[in-house]
Amino acid sequence: MAQLIDGKAVSAAVKAEVAEETAKLKDEKGLKVGLAVVIVGNDPASRVYVNNKKKACEAVGFQSYEYALDESTTQEQLLDLVNVLNRDDRVNGILVQLPLPKHIDEKAVINAISPDKDVDAFHPINVGKIMIGEYSFLPCTPAGVMRLIESTGTDITGKQCVVIGRSNIVGKPQAMLLLQKNGTVTICHSKTKNLKEICLGADILVVAIGRANFVTGDMIKEGAVVIDVGMNRLDNGKLCGDVEFESAEKKASFITPVPGGVGPMTIAMLMKNTLTAAKQQAGIE
Ligand code: GUN
Repeated sequence: MAQLIDGKAVSAAVKAEVAEETAKLKDEKGLKVGLAVVIVGNDPASRVYVNNKKKACEAVGFQSYEYALDESTTQEQLLDLVNVLNRDDRVNGILVQLPLPKHIDEKAVINAISPDKDVDAFHPINVGKIMIGEYSFLPCTPAGVMRLIESTGTDITGKQCVVIGRSNIVGKPQAMLLLQKNGTVTICHSKTKNLKEICLGADILVVAIGRANFVTGDMIKEGAVVIDVGMNRLDNGKLCGDVEFESAEKKASFITPVPGGVGPMTIAMLMKNTLTAAKQQAGIE
């Protein structure tokens, strides 16, 4: 039976590290750390995420600046705000909550954020830096996944790593990070043939496909480390991952629960990126 990977505990440890360093920066250098969070419209899930980010900022000692804009905000108005925040010295990190309303081009907004303040690591410059291994920020979810794998004591070098999902936010950067740790990486997606066979070869399996209970125990190699990035809401209101937990935990050596696995890591890594941004902008790192 698999051991559970406790995302809440690992996330709390990351946030405690960030809080300690933030307090030290304030005491020793008089430096304050600030994160601007921009939300457009009334998407309830986005509202919950933004509130959680605000709370996390308070918990680690950051200033948070929230900009809640009306659904009818034009792309030009949003770009103007991003430009103001790019120039605001109190703001070290800028996060524009996605998805944006349909009339706004997300790419244009991401491209407008200064790469130095892009704590999501979504800007093409930061994406490119990840490719060549010279990054300042890592995208929050894949970075959180790496930290969870690390917490199991698993050495990635030479391991067969399978990532299911090829999104720009999770799958693709996840594969790059595993590769940088010397994993042998396969990326699978909705068009992949013989998916079960590929999964059965995985020592480390990261699932980010966005389909409830998609990976079942019979697709998992005995002793694999299984990381479930999925967050699906079932008709009965319950949250579930992309991995069918009951059958998977019988095969895996370590597995993340949903909720309480990858989810809490994303915000912790956002705090870490914001601290890194503040240090870089102050010329400390
Ligand atoms: N929407 C869902 N997840 C994220 C995220 O990590 N960053 C941003 N900016 N928006 C999101």
